[in-house]
Amino acid sequence: MIYDSLDLESILKDFPVTRKITYMNNGSLAPLPLSSIKAMTDFLIRYSELGPDSSTIQEHIVSLMKETRIRLGHLINSEPEEIVFTQSTTEGLNYVSTGLNWKESDILVIRGGPHEHYANYFPWLNVANKFKVKIKELKIDNNGFFDLDELERIAKSSNIKLITLSHALYNNGAILPVEEVGKIAQDNDILLCIDAAQSVGSIDVDVKRINCDFMAFPSFKWVCGPPGTGIFFCKKKSASLLEPKYIGNESAIITEKKELVFLDSPKKFQTGFRNYVGLAGFEASLRYILRLGINTVRKMNISVANQLRNELSKIPSIQFFGPDNEKTRTSIISFTIDGVESKTIVSKLEEKEIIVAEREIHIDKRLIKIVRLSPHFFNSYDEISKLVRELQIISK
Ligand SMILES: Cc1ncc(COP(=O)(O)O)c(C=O)c1O
Repeated sequence: MIYDSLDLESILKDFPVTRKITYMNNGSLAPLPLSSIKAMTDFLIRYSELGPDSSTIQEHIVSLMKETRIRLGHLINSEPEEIVFTQSTTEGLNYVSTGLNWKESDILVIRGGPHEHYANYFPWLNVANKFKVKIKELKIDNNGFFDLDELERIAKSSNIKLITLSHALYNNGAILPVEEVGKIAQDNDILLCIDAAQSVGSIDVDVKRINCDFMAFPSFKWVCGPPGTGIFFCKKKSASLLEPKYIGNESAIITEKKELVFLDSPKKFQTGFRNYVGLAGFEASLRYILRLGINTVRKMNISVANQLRNELSKIPSIQFFGPDNEKTRTSIISFTIDGVESKTIVSKLEEKEIIVAEREIHIDKRLIKIVRLSPHFFNSYDEISKLVRELQIISK
């Protein structure tokens, strides 16, 4: 038992969603704890009473940004100046795809190509089309893993500019060996960009151990923050490689010859960000996750996932996708049930106030529509039983 029943009870009280429905779609959007909702309301009251544009509110916003950067340092081991506020993972990945100076001879390595979440595929495809850059798709097995020796061989060939991959897969929860990839990238002087949408807040993420140049993730999945807030991590020494995607008043200065000189990161990239309400919620959600501790969060969510898998495996017509070994998967569980379409399962569960998602996996050139459960630490054993019961009924 990771948490005693009292602890879980207080967690359940923190998440109003648990009073209404069984929510297991955190890989898409996670609900906020009450403390984050309150932080946003408090911010708006303060903003409307003391500002919006007064030195008191300006100081408050500056300190909110500072606090958030420090807390992110505790979560992902980044430095404050490596943190750029965005609205989503997609935005962060586009900072890299649009910011690098591409040449026709460059080669981009993408794990599985279109098997990545499209947010980490389309921006690169656009680069390939626009600059005639070549994409090398790293071959994957049915669980989404790849051969590190093959990656090493590819990395040794010339003109590889960047490797990109997800830390954890959105469709089957596989955790990919990003630290090993980081070593290969470093040994061969190749840039590394990580899509961490499905890992930050769910499993331990350490940008220094991974040694990536760039990473993007949202607050609104596993960190339980508000929609419209995310992070672009840009390693200090890699910031000079990127031209900023947005250029404005706060990100540069002008010389007498009307030349632009970009400020140092994160200011270089941090222009036009206005979602301070979201930031207040994000900061509170970070505090929540850090108070529990990422290792506890991980133990709790994998414990929920394992119980679900054990119970569900008793349904004869169920087929799971993704790795079995719990060390190589997040709490995401993907499956099909013979004879029932996944979208029917999703809608039948929704009728019973259980929220899950339909996603897709390509296996052996076949597109399989799967049901994706993405439970988090606040899902209770009662909810597991309810979901299993409903799936047993649906499978008959
Ligand atoms: C692996 C992965 N990358 C990127 C995204 C897109 O995230 P965002 O909505 O933050 O742009 C998602 C969303 O589900 C995802 O799962």
